[in-house]
Amino acid sequence: SAPVELVAQPVNAQILPEGEPATPMLGFNGGTPGPVLRARQGEVFDIRFQNQIGEGSAVHWHGLRIDNAMDGVPGMTQDVVEAGGEFEYSFRAPDAGTFWYHSHNRSWEQVAKGLYGPLIVEEPTPPDVDHDLIIMIDDWRITENGVLADGFENMRDQAHQGRLGNFARALVEPVTPVRRGDRVRLRLINVATDRIFPVELEGVEGKVVALDGMPIVDPQEFSGLILAPAQRADIIADVITDAPIGFVFPTRDGPYLLGEIPVKGANTTRQPSEIPALPPNEVTSPDMGSAVSLTLTMEGGAMSRRMMQGMMGGDIWAFNGQSGLTDTPLHSFERGQTARIRLVNDTRFPHGIHLHGHHFFEVGADGNLGALRDTTLVDAGETRDIVCVFDNPGNWLLHCHMLGHQAAGMKTWVEVALEHHHHHH
Ligand code: C2O
Ligand code: CU
Repeated sequence: SAPVELVAQPVNAQILPEGEPATPMLGFNGGTPGPVLRARQGEVFDIRFQNQIGEGSAVHWHGLRIDNAMDGVPGMTQDVVEAGGEFEYSFRAPDAGTFWYHSHNRSWEQVAKGLYGPLIVEEPTPPDVDHDLIIMIDDWRITENGVLADGFENMRDQAHQGRLGNFARALVEPVTPVRRGDRVRLRLINVATDRIFPVELEGVEGKVVALDGMPIVDPQEFSGLILAPAQRADIIADVITDAPIGFVFPTRDGPYLLGEIPVKGANTTRQPSEIPALPPNEVTSPDMGSAVSLTLTMEGGAMSRRMMQGMMGGDIWAFNGQSGLTDTPLHSFERGQTARIRLVNDTRFPHGIHLHGHHFFEVGADGNLGALRDTTLVDAGETRDIVCVFDNPGNWLLHCHMLGHQAAGMKTWVEVALEHHHHHH
């Protein structure tokens, strides 16, 4: 079949409330967020990306464990797609779940301007719900006349929490009312460049069934849900009141309503039932006996020694004392090798650390393997171990998904060899 056309171009978007000016932004196929890309697990996405934004770009399929050549990282997995150029992406979706796509060229600016969209991979037998809804949470730094504030590389922002907006919203797709008594699947995606969103839900009762596209074995309560930039949560929940479903961002100044889904009428036929766990995606089990141990220490930012370097034109953030991409990788793994990586946050800010091409286990305080994620939030001063089986060959980025931090040096890469790792007994 013919590829899906995905055209990056300037768009006007109604970010501010109706009646206020529209905002000149970047988007795909005429809007931001871009179109929902959807396929069944195991199917192939064929996408013809056309770049009409007037500068280089490329598209990264965040969280998908796909061939390295399709990962969309200019200078690493492909050449930048120049203004007016195009690139054909084709990849098989191995995991069912909630993913997203976004520009990976000057992402701190292109994503802030709107170059992103949702990518959904359906389970072979999707769970029994009445509505499957995508909720993209974003913030924008926007002037009163509806123009995005410039200064995308503002050093003060980069040295602190990144570019935080003054206006935030949850964008629901599709826009459709639900009924009291309906069971809904809510796919939350934090598409903001830098802001961490704690999210509270009103009007529903249910469970978190997946994180970062990977099902949770025992679905969890959603109280205390926090989404770092790029993180996702799938929730299956029942609509319990006639009031709208509310997405609330609790702030120090009180609750901030990000968005609502209207409730109209009642579903009288659905019988109460347990929230089901989703079928697991297939991942290689880690071999802890032969695991290699690594440490990744986050350094820099405001109030650090490295800040002086930043003032003199250098990078503000570093991993293990090193800013930006080096000629040699952080580590070369044999294919299939298990690694335990200690993430040490030696800074005064939280960081959301993202690995391309793989999911990894967060190791809990009890030492047990926890959720499978592609992005993990490590608070200021905190240390977190992750365990990953590096079974996808190629060169993969490992970076902070606070895109202002990434812009200012907080990135590295790993290599996974083509040959298999042989176990030694
Ligand atoms: Cu979501 Cu390297 O990116
Ligand atoms: Cu960071």
